Formats: sequence, C-alpha cells, structure tokens
Amino acid sequence: MSRRSDPLVSCSILTGVVREPNPAPTMRCCTTWISIIMLTVTLASGFGTATAAPLSSGAAACSTLSTNSSITVLTPTSDPSSYSSAKTSGFNPLNNKLSPSCIVRPSTTADVSTIMKAIFTSNSPYAVRSGGHTGMAGWDSVEGGVLIDFSKMTGFAFDAGASTVSVEPGLRWGEVYNLSAVHGVAPMGGRVSHVGTGLILGGGLSLLSPLYGYACDGLVEAEIVSPEGNVLTVNKDTNPTLLRAIKGGGGRFGIVTKYTLRAFPTGTNDEKNWYGGSITSLDPPGMDAMVSLTEKFVATPDDPKATLLSNVGLLKIQGVPTWLGSTFLFYKGTKEEFDSVFRDFLAIPAAIVDVKPLSYLEAAATTPLGWTSTQAYKWMGGSLYPNASLTARPLPSVVPAIPIVNADAPSTYLALWNNLKPFLAKHADVIGSAFFSITPVRTNQIEQGYLAGSNAISPPRGRSYMHWLFSTILEENTDSFPEDLEKDRLKLISDNPSDKGLPLFLNEVDVSQDAFKTYGWYEELKQEYKRFDPSGFSVKHQQGPKF
Ligand SMILES: Cc1cc2nc3c(=O)[nH]c(=O)nc-3n(C[C@H](O)[C@H](O)[C@H](O)COP(=O)(O)OP(=O)(O)OC[C@H]3O[C@@H](n4cnc5c(N)ncnc54)[C@H](O)[C@@H]3O)c2cc1C
Ligand SMILES: *[C@@H]1O[C@H](CO)[C@@H](O)[C@H](O)[C@H]1NC(C)=O
Ligand SMILES: *[C@@H]1O[C@H](CO)[C@@H](O)[C@H](O)[C@H]1NC(C)=O
Ligand SMILES: *[C@@H]1O[C@H](CO)[C@@H](O)[C@H](O)[C@H]1NC(C)=O
Repeated sequence: MSRRSDPLVSCSILTGVVREPNPAPTMRCCTTWISIIMLTVTLASGFGTATAAPLSSGAAACSTLSTNSSITVLTPTSDPSSYSSAKTSGFNPLNNKLSPSCIVRPSTTADVSTIMKAIFTSNSPYAVRSGGHTGMAGWDSVEGGVLIDFSKMTGFAFDAGASTVSVEPGLRWGEVYNLSAVHGVAPMGGRVSHVGTGLILGGGLSLLSPLYGYACDGLVEAEIVSPEGNVLTVNKDTNPTLLRAIKGGGGRFGIVTKYTLRAFPTGTNDEKNWYGGSITSLDPPGMDAMVSLTEKFVATPDDPKATLLSNVGLLKIQGVPTWLGSTFLFYKGTKEEFDSVFRDFLAIPAAIVDVKPLSYLEAAATTPLGWTSTQAYKWMGGSLYPNASLTARPLPSVVPAIPIVNADAPSTYLALWNNLKPFLAKHADVIGSAFFSITPVRTNQIEQGYLAGSNAISPPRGRSYMHWLFSTILEENTDSFPEDLEKDRLKLISDNPSDKGLPLFLNEVDVSQDAFKTYGWYEELKQEYKRFDPSGFSVKHQQGPKF
C-alpha cells in the first residue's frame, strides 16, 4: 500500500487546463480533475415540452424591448460579436448551439419585469440563464425566443442582524463564498465555484447540507417576477406556500431576481476550523471500496459535521481511458474527529490522500470543475437507501462516530456501480469522461428542511439515503450524442430504479425523469402552480421541469 500526501494529483495527470465558459473576472479554476457531474435529454425530447410558438412572437418581444434604452438587447444583427459570446456563455454545448431571437441583459428587477411583460404580451418562447450549468438541453437557452441572461445582476449584501446574505442571480458560488467569508459566514450553495444560483431552485446540495438541509432550505426570501411581469416578495409571512414551492420548484415559480439566504457561521478564511480534502484512487478495487464505504457512511448514524461526495468513473487522459475515483470529504472539527469518522476511507489501499486543516472557503474550493465548456454533457440520477442490513446497530452515544456496520453485507451501491461499468466499457471511444457520483443525504439534512419551513422535495423522514448521479461527458467540440450511446444511456435509467417513496434530485437528473412526480409535496406543488400561473404560461413557453 502506498499512500502519499502530496498536493492532490491535480491538473497535470488529469485533463490539463480548464477553459472556463464565461469566467467572472475573479474566477480561476486551478485543479482540473474530475469529480462532479450530473445529466439529461436529447435536444429532440427536450424540445418536445414547449409549444413551438412561431418565431415571430420572439422577434416581436425583442423588437418591443429594443426600443427601451435601459435594457441591453443583443441580436445577431445589432451586435453580432456580443450576441455570439452571450449565446455561448453557458457551460453546456447542448444549449450554446441554440440561437435566441435576442439575448437580454437586465440590470434591475424593474428591467426583468419589463422584459417579462414583453414576453407575456407577445406569447414568446423564453429561457433564463444564470450560471449556465444545467445538464438539460433547452433549459437555459431557446431557439428563436428571448433569452434572459443574468450576467449583469451580480449584487451582494450581508445583513449581520438577520444573519442573511442577499444574492442576485448572476453571481457564481465561488464569488458568493468569497464575499461572505469576510464576515465569517457562508450560505448554502454549490460545491464547484463556477456553478450558478439556479442551483437553489433545484434543491441544491452543499457541503453544509448535512448540517443545515438542502441548499434551498437556506432560502428565507425570494424576490420574483411572475409570468405577467409582476414583482413579488415571497417569504414565510407574505406567502409561505409559494416560498415552499420555490424551494425545489426549478424556476417554475417566477424568475428570481434576488435570493435572501441564511448565512451560517463557517468562519473567515483565516480560521482553519475544517479538516479534509480528497482521497483519490486510480485502481478499480480501490474505487469499488470507495463506493461501498460511501454506502456504509450513509448507513452509519448521522454525524452532521461530516460531509462527503464520492465520484468513480472513467476519464480520458491523452486519449487513454483511465479509471479514476475521488472522494471529497470534510469534517467541521479537528483532525482527530476527521480520522475517526473517515478512517475506513483513509485505509483504502493505494489511495492518494490529500487532507489538511482548511477554512470553509478552502474546503469549498477543493472540488474541481471536471471538464470544459466544449464538452456536451447529460446526466441521470436516482435515490437509494443503503442496504438495510448495513444499518443494524446504532452508535452508543459515548463513542465518537466510528462506522459500526456489518462489513460483509453486499453493497447495493456497488451493485449499481457494477451495472454502469459495461456502459463505460462499450462507449469508452466516444466518452470524454463519465462518472458515478454519490451524495449522502442523512437524517439531520432531511429534518433541517422541515424545521426551516419545509421544501417542495419533502423527503420521508428518519432514514438516510443517497442521491446518485451518472454523468456522460463527450469529448471536446462535440454537441450531439450518438444514437446508440443515447439508447444505452437511457436504458440505464430504467434498469436502475430508485427506491419507492424517495424523491429524485432535480439538479441531477435526465430531462426524461420527472423529478416533481417523486416529491413528497407533489400534489400541493401542482395546485400551487395552478394558482401562481393560471394560464400555464411558463410551462407552455419555457423549457423546464414538468408537473
Ligand atoms: C460542474 C458542475 C458542478 C455542480 N455541482 C453541484 C453541486 O455541488 N450541488 C448542486 O446542487 N448542484 C450542482 N450542479 C448542478 C447545478 O446545480 C444545476 O445544473 C443548476 O441548475 C445550475 O444552476 P446555474 O444557475 O448554474 O445554471 P443555469 O443553466 O443558468 O440554470 C439552471 C436552471 O435554472 C433556471 N434558472 C436559473 N436562474 C434562474 C432564476 N434566477 N429564476 C428562475 N429560473 C432560473 C434556468 O432556467 C435553468 O432551468 C453542478 C453542475 C455542474 C455542471
Ligand atoms: C423601460 O424599462 C424600464 C425598466 O427598466 C421601465 O421602467 C420603463 O417603463 C420601460 N419603458 C417603456 C417605454 O416600456
Ligand atoms: C476568491 O478570492 C481569492 C483571493 O482573493 C481569489 O484568488 C479567487 O480567485 C476568488 N474566487 C472567486 C471565485 O472569485
Ligand atoms: C443486503 O445484504 C443482505 C445480507 O447481507 C444480502 O442478502 C442482500 O442481498 C443485500 N442486498 C443487496 C441489494 O445487495
């Protein structure tokens, strides 16, 4: 067994330099690596959901808006080069290839209201783009309609009295964490710095989720613009059911122009009060161990200060498909506590261990981006309990959280990983990378959501589960999925069903997977949508989750 603890493998052995889609001036991803991942649908089926309104309705909305001097309206003829860079500012080539009639860049909520009124009056198709990281073809751009691009709305404010931060939709999480850390706090947001605020609307999984809930559970107030262009302030006093619907409602409940999020005490960048980093294995048995240990972690009685994300899969390095597993794991506490909770992971043979004391800001910057904006990607996901026989014995309260599980029980999660391997082997030639990723959702995370006023996801209480994601990422400069690959990919969804009663995680599914239908609050969510948007304008004119 050889274990090194040099700075995590990083750029050199893996993919090289990450090219960012739309880099905010201060964002630079240094570790290129693989990790995260997620997924989607064919353009064809993606477009099946919205009414194909005639192009002229988009052109009409654009022409109305272009007369208003306070709004930036880019069209292919008015400003071809700005239009073209705005069109391709997303992270997924599946969406960057779409050509909106115009791309509008609001600066204020009043602008968004004006824009939405023009769209509504013209019956135009439309789309909203914040961080541009969706895996869903057609969800953050539109062919022949109006694309609302939030890149100019990047306001941030900290309210010490209320312990909240206010975030405009154009910020990325890395920027939000930088601005928050100065005050010793962080809201719940993404685990990769480039991801945008749309994450909140799909539920959201943060490094802080085990302590405080899904990222959306941190939402205390949203300023939204309705399909008719009305501006509403939604909080637990003005409209508790609408607030609940926004938490997981995937952008169906208005365009959010400001998120007010709970700010949690994570420490400033000078406070190294977290411990952790990454464990990497390039060895298939080590990767299998990562998967089954992650399942044991899910089955072990909850310690909310412990958080992890495991990814195992295939990455092409200079044309050679290479197995790669990485677990990112952190403990809010000391090295001793970390070692005690994660000792099984630390003992994975031949793993490369890179762990150390960290500030929260550093922990949140550990998970790398994974691939580039020239690689098309699709996701699929599911939700599974651990094998019940793993959950047998509760921890005695005096003992620190050491996994006490039946080590010999066959692993359900490993069985799933084994089901995915033949797909990887068969399609290794066209795949740039593909990863099976596991995020544990443990009992405290579930409970915190209910304590914070409940979300739309509303999972069953009292038992931990995982959300898994399988991402298929093509090689560079490709923007379509070969038919046979797609057929096999979609078959993985039906071959690997989720446990009954568990919700799907909207941010990490395929467009063919109807996450809303799996929510505990599904019937109420449908009713709330009817109240909110009686003519069903957004469902008819904007791609997105279906009811
Ligand atoms: C590399 C990578 C890492 C990721 N890591 C995580 C993670 O750690 N945790 C996690 O939960 N998810 C993660 N995701 C998934 C991510 O959260 C979702 O893809 C999310 O939808 C991205 O939001 P965005 O603003 O970047 O994307 P966009 O593509 O701009 O938006 C996503 C969706 O939200 C809608 N939307 C965006 N902004 C608004 C708004 N203001 N009002 C109304 N609707 C809006 C869009 O129309 C679109 O349907 C990751 C994705 C990638 C590619
Ligand atoms: C132009 O947009 C602004 C909002 O940005 C709005 O207040 C104003 O009424 C609009 N003007 C017209 C003529 O629609
Ligand atoms: C956060 O701040 C650090 C230090 O100033 C900087 O290096 C980094 O690029 C910033 N990250 C983002 C995403 O803004
Ligand atoms: C769970 O573990 C039991 C007992 O060890 C085993 O019989 C069963 O096959 C396992 N289930 C799965 C789905 O692996």
